[in-house]
Amino acid sequence: MNRIFSGVQPTGNLHLGNYLGAVRNWVRLQHDYECLFCLVDLHAITVWQEPQALKTHTREVAAAMLAAGIDPKKNVLFAQSQNPDHATLAWIFNCVARIGWLNRMTQFKEKAGKNRENASVGLYAYPNLMSADILVYRATHVPVGEDQKQHLELARDTAQKFNSDYGVDFFPLPEPLILGTASRVMSLRDGQKKMSKSDESDYSRINMTDDAETIELKFRKAKTDPLALPETMGELAGRPEAANLLGIWAALSDVTLDAAVERFAGQQFSSFKKELAELAVAKLAPINAEMRRYLADPGEIDAILKDGAQRARALSAPVMDQVQDIVGFLKA
Ligand code: TYM
Repeated sequence: MNRIFSGVQPTGNLHLGNYLGAVRNWVRLQHDYECLFCLVDLHAITVWQEPQALKTHTREVAAAMLAAGIDPKKNVLFAQSQNPDHATLAWIFNCVARIGWLNRMTQFKEKAGKNRENASVGLYAYPNLMSADILVYRATHVPVGEDQKQHLELARDTAQKFNSDYGVDFFPLPEPLILGTASRVMSLRDGQKKMSKSDESDYSRINMTDDAETIELKFRKAKTDPLALPETMGELAGRPEAANLLGIWAALSDVTLDAAVERFAGQQFSSFKKELAELAVAKLAPINAEMRRYLADPGEIDAILKDGAQRARALSAPVMDQVQDIVGFLKA
């Protein structure tokens, strides 16, 4: 059976990278797979979160996912902390994965920065919790943006080592699903840097909550080079900002990057940016309005997540039962 698991950190509003690289693909995949979508609040606290803000962001990100078209009846939508099986399996994986593997994780190096000694232990062990998220449901496919690829390789290595250490064929090796032309949306201020929630400049990203005026302003101010738009794909080489903006246009229009290059060949950035902003507003405004509708009733969001958590637990409990037996724990 094919089962999907994916997650998003409720550390702030979703941005266009999260939407095009992940959430929009989830909306499309929900018809063909059994899916679990998770607000990974245990991951969020690997860096400091104000408790009240974490609650608000968890509801906001849930609202954004619902507004984008995730059906909470068909899929399981819940918060990670609402199912304690994730944390239990993560501990077991802390004892399976090797320190050398975690030392190679580029995301830890980026997030911890120069002051590694002062990073939380949770930030270091983060990938093991991610492996547990996926494998506690024995999920087979994981739709993510490009930046999560290395973590998924670690999840596969961990599944494999668990199976071989215990002499079982228990965990599947989960496959990443990296889909579409926008699996790595870059910052609007620097085409070499990923669009990210943690970037200091709000001008670096389009938030799912931005109004039309803000979206237009951010695209107008987006960094470009002095040339006109390229005539061919070959001419895009070495022009990260042009490639990023054309990639966003292509993803929002559901066409290939080639088609976007052909459409705007030789044009000036100013007119292209205007069209890009109009398109983004047209695509995001309905989601924005629907999100506000959900947020007007936080009780409804909480009820959806609670129901999702119960269904998630019902799926993970039999897996954990077997894991405990495999590892050699006595039944509770
Ligand atoms: P997070 O919260 O950083 O991002 C959520 C999803 O959005 C994708 N994404 C992007 N895609 C394209 N361009 C970008 N600039 C961009 N920024 C983010 C991410 O690839 C991701 O798919 N560790 C994960 C959350 C997680 C998870 C999991 C994912 C926890 N457990 C288990 C899959 C399976 C993270 O921090 O995502």
